[in-house]
Amino acid sequence: MFSEEKKSKNYGSIFLYCFFCFVLIVEVARFAKPYYNLQNLMETEATVEEGFLAVEDSEKLPCRLLSRPSVSVPSQDQQKLSQAVTQETRTRPPNSYCVKFQSFITMAKQVKENGGKYESRPFSVGGYNWTFIIYPNSNIPSGSGGYVSLYLRIDNSTLITNPKDVYADITFLTYKSSTDKYQSYQETEAQRFHLFRQQWGQLTFLPIVYFENPGYGYSFDGGSVVFGIDINIVKPFENWEVFSNEQNIRDPIFEWRLTKFSTLFHDSYTSDSFSSGGRNWALKLYPNGVGNATGNSLSLYLLSASNEKGYVEAKLRVIDQIQSNHFEKKVAAWPNATENGWGFDRFLPFADIKNTSKGYLVNDTLKLEVQIFSFSKTDFFSHQSSAFFPISYGDSI
Ligand SMILES: *[C@@H]1O[C@H](CO)[C@@H](O)[C@H](O)[C@H]1NC(C)=O
Ligand SMILES: *[C@@H]1O[C@H](CO)[C@@H](O)[C@H](O)[C@H]1NC(C)=O
Ligand SMILES: *[C@@H]1O[C@H](CO)[C@@H](O)[C@H](O)[C@H]1NC(C)=O
Ligand SMILES: *[C@@H]1O[C@H](CO)[C@@H](O)[C@H](O)[C@H]1NC(C)=O
Ligand SMILES: *[C@@H]1O[C@H](CO)[C@@H](O)[C@H](O)[C@H]1NC(C)=O
Ligand SMILES: *[C@@H]1O[C@H](CO)[C@@H](O)[C@H](O)[C@H]1NC(C)=O
Repeated sequence: MFSEEKKSKNYGSIFLYCFFCFVLIVEVARFAKPYYNLQNLMETEATVEEGFLAVEDSEKLPCRLLSRPSVSVPSQDQQKLSQAVTQETRTRPPNSYCVKFQSFITMAKQVKENGGKYESRPFSVGGYNWTFIIYPNSNIPSGSGGYVSLYLRIDNSTLITNPKDVYADITFLTYKSSTDKYQSYQETEAQRFHLFRQQWGQLTFLPIVYFENPGYGYSFDGGSVVFGIDINIVKPFENWEVFSNEQNIRDPIFEWRLTKFSTLFHDSYTSDSFSSGGRNWALKLYPNGVGNATGNSLSLYLLSASNEKGYVEAKLRVIDQIQSNHFEKKVAAWPNATENGWGFDRFLPFADIKNTSKGYLVNDTLKLEVQIFSFSKTDFFSHQSSAFFPISYGDSI
């Protein structure tokens, strides 16, 4: 009927038709329960004219026809649409499933005897089976008014054997042939499916008349209509880390005694490893200095035996073996000496070591000490097979 009008290029009747559409939309807005506001309706009205003029140019099949009618029990677990819905137009096709009705109007009549709904055959997304349910008739389910309702149902067989929550971001789409795009309506929050809530959807997707009347641009090729769905399973995190600061250090002090200091000829010496705060460490000394300190000062560092990298607060000392007037420098830093952990290139000038009245070198023995006050740590956790256990223990930046 409408396409005949179109062919005649009778602009008077086009105008009449548009006026009719506008009145109809306003009526729908008043009597149905729309989830979008009047502003959106005005936008829709604006595209109606455009849609009407572009009806004939759609030869494309946006989705493969996969479904055949199936019989299923009417559902009871309906969930009404919440307000937080975003609407968009896109060219990207649905990512999970599509149902094309060769004739929306014929399908709507046929499913009346089947609880008023069309249920797709099961399809698999994210390790679960789902079905896509379309209600094409007014007031089925009750409260839907003059709107098509779209629902997604999870196959409960997996949930029965392994009860858990399945979170899914869902977008319902319909193909608009007049613009060759998909119109989508997406809930902003991921939906939670579980054993006692196996179905979720939109009670008022779009007015039924949009799909009955080709003038709106959704019905094409003599009454075909396409509905699609995006399902993105949102898996909760399985790995995480906890960053903390270890403060009450057990065995905080380690002493390292170097005898025959004047005979040390290697570039560097590393102490035996020692445990402090439950972690293994070592001291590293360059008796002749390293870098800019070469030939000038002792270079001294604290190392992590397991190569951890975190924030460390510690004091490095050279013991005054005569008056206990020790020399010390505090480090409070992330590892700041490449390959050498935490410490100082120019730790103690040789002049001070040689000065016997300072008591650092007695009988050719040097006593070094470290006191660890705190260090940061990062614990890593993983939760697979539903048990929580730490997988490693260490620092990271
Ligand atoms: C999904 O359905 C198919 C066919 O019915 C079945 O073989 C498969 O095991 C199901 N998968 C799940 C996760 O339920
Ligand atoms: C699982 O789904 C079927 C059909 O959808 C339904 O008949 C059955 O009651 C459901 N089982 C549970 C435990 O919810
Ligand atoms: C060494 O000293 C020079 C000049 O004083 C300086 O530019 C350079 O950054 C120093 N290198 C190191 C590793 O401290
Ligand atoms: C490491 O950090 C300390 C301050 O915590 C600083 O005094 C020292 O010079 C730094 N060492 C190097 C090698 O940059
Ligand atoms: C040696 O150390 C003492 C005490 O710190 C100081 O008084 C004296 O000047 C130092 N001698 C030299 C040669 O640096
Ligand atoms: C000095 O060290 C030697 C061995 O290195 C030791 O035999 C001697 O007893 C030490 N003397 C003192 C006074 O500590």
